[in-house]
Amino acid sequence: MNVKVSVVGGGNVGANTALYIAERGLADVTLIDIVEGMPQGKALDLTQAAPLWHSGARVTGSNSLDDVKGSAVVVITAGFPRKPGMSRSDLLKANTDIVGPAAEAVKKHAPNAYVIVVTNPLDVMAYVAWRKTGFPKQRVLGMAGVLDSTRFRAFVAMELGVCASDVQAMVLGGHGDSMVPLPRYTTVSGIPIPELLSKEKIDALSQRTRDGGAEIVKLLKTGSAYYAPAMSAVDMVQAILKDEKRVIPCSVLLSGEYGLKDLFLGVPVVVGAAGVERVIELGLAADELAALHASGAGVREMIEELALDTVA
Ligand SMILES: NC(=O)c1ccc[n+]([C@@H]2O[C@H](COP(=O)([O-])OP(=O)(O)OC[C@H]3O[C@@H](n4cnc5c(N)ncnc54)[C@H](O)[C@@H]3O)[C@@H](O)[C@H]2O)c1
Repeated sequence: MNVKVSVVGGGNVGANTALYIAERGLADVTLIDIVEGMPQGKALDLTQAAPLWHSGARVTGSNSLDDVKGSAVVVITAGFPRKPGMSRSDLLKANTDIVGPAAEAVKKHAPNAYVIVVTNPLDVMAYVAWRKTGFPKQRVLGMAGVLDSTRFRAFVAMELGVCASDVQAMVLGGHGDSMVPLPRYTTVSGIPIPELLSKEKIDALSQRTRDGGAEIVKLLKTGSAYYAPAMSAVDMVQAILKDEKRVIPCSVLLSGEYGLKDLFLGVPVVVGAAGVERVIELGLAADELAALHASGAGVREMIEELALDTVA
């Protein structure tokens, strides 16, 4: 039997996550959504694409969270994006009510799984999943840093006219306006970008990265980005399943690193078969550390707003 990955939420991000996993033959995929017939239909469509990919991955669809059973990894993408007229608190509550039960199902039916959370507000939903599963912190990861840094990489490559995969970037902090791109840790084949671009240009690319999600929302008019988010989640799934020891920014539970604890925030980590194998503590400049702490304060405020102790 192949390794199994479940993807909870069969919408734009979830379906594309299933697509990339199956296309790469990384695992069998179970796609789970509350909409009757939809995950089954998408799974059948993906199954029919598999012969052309030369991939043996099996994809099935389900409307029951119980079907996370036996998963090595569960990716949680179920939930709403923020819609016009919806307050941050409304979104927090609505998505907690979706991610919480999904996490409880993982605890019950896939007690050894690794959980990758995609649902927004990301750092808080990762915290909810960690609390509701009760899993060790190494087994719950939020996807944001991979996406934010791949966006920064793409923008730097576009600006310099170089191959995007030669650009490496590091973006820390919460997933949102307060993210902290780190230009001095961003390189083109080892060359730090401050050697190649003016400060003004780097600032503009950093800002475009912060606004990366909003720029796409504005163009799409309905919905938000999904190809790069799905691929970013799959990068993390692969790092775990193939024990790659990738050094990537992920939202993880901090226990004193960077002077922060008891909250999820994006930092560089080593991801392998044991999940979060190590947090890498960079020597940050005072302004970078202050930006990271400000980002952490915003996440903490939302966690406090949830008062999970009373809902748990
Ligand atoms: N972390 C990131 O960087 C990042 C990037 C992109 C999107 N997101 C977030 O991911 C989430 C999904 O985005 P999307 O574009 O796929 O949205 P979408 O609306 O296309 O899909 C969401 C799906 O979740 C399903 N769903 C709702 N409640 C459910 C439940 N209880 N159980 C199972 N499925 C349920 C819906 O039926 C829908 O199909 C949003 O919260 C979005 O903001 C995060």
